Amino acid sequence: MTSRDYRHHVLHHYNHFAKYYDFTEFIRRDTRHWAVALSDVKPGESVLDVCTGTGELAIALARRGAHVTGVDISTSMLARAALKLVTPKPTFLEMDAVALEFHDQSFDISTISLALHHMPEDVQQRVLAEMWRVSRRKVVIVEPHTPRNPLFWKGWTVFANWIDESELMYEWVRQDFTRTCQLAELDVERTQIATLGIHRITVCRPRRRAA
Ligand SMILES: C[S@@+](CC[C@H](N)C(=O)[O-])C[C@H]1O[C@@H](n2cnc3c(N)ncnc32)[C@H](O)[C@@H]1O
Repeated sequence: MTSRDYRHHVLHHYNHFAKYYDFTEFIRRDTRHWAVALSDVKPGESVLDVCTGTGELAIALARRGAHVTGVDISTSMLARAALKLVTPKPTFLEMDAVALEFHDQSFDISTISLALHHMPEDVQQRVLAEMWRVSRRKVVIVEPHTPRNPLFWKGWTVFANWIDESELMYEWVRQDFTRTCQLAELDVERTQIATLGIHRITVCRPRRRAA
């Protein structure tokens, strides 16, 4: 799948199914708690939630007292996020994750949840490079966990394609994600498996060269 095909697929899928997305939020609830805890966010810190979708992780981070901005390319997903009557409310903006319209290091923390595995690896690299650029302290990534043993890859791919409607699971199960992070100058500090082994949370520190 090329970068253009991926974009078309994402916009088609999420603009059409945004109204149903939160029906399955109960599956992600525990993972959100873990992601917020591992982000170690402090009241008053600034957080960017990339590919925010209907904004659930952004809202969970805002409840910790952070100033949160959520960005996404799907206007329907953003509309669902904006409709939520929550206080404090994150700011939601339409923006492409591969070209974040923020200055270097303008956020303490950036997060991304369940979006990278829908992207070809070259697009993932561009998104992670952008997150590295805008983040001062931490980058927190939530994605599907995959089995290490290649014997399980085929079964996992069939199942994951079926429940997640992603066309890139064949690639995702084979991807060395720690290496992907390292290529984007993100040093992996910790990984945590959550929600019965479905999700993996990767906590990274942006590598900075000495001035
Ligand atoms: C599976 S949803 C995850 C939403 C949310 N992060 C969550 O954890 O529930 C994937 C989201 O990524 C967004 N997305 C995909 N590619 C993007 C890009 N290049 N820039 C911004 N958003 C993107 C989609 O529009 C969709 O809302």
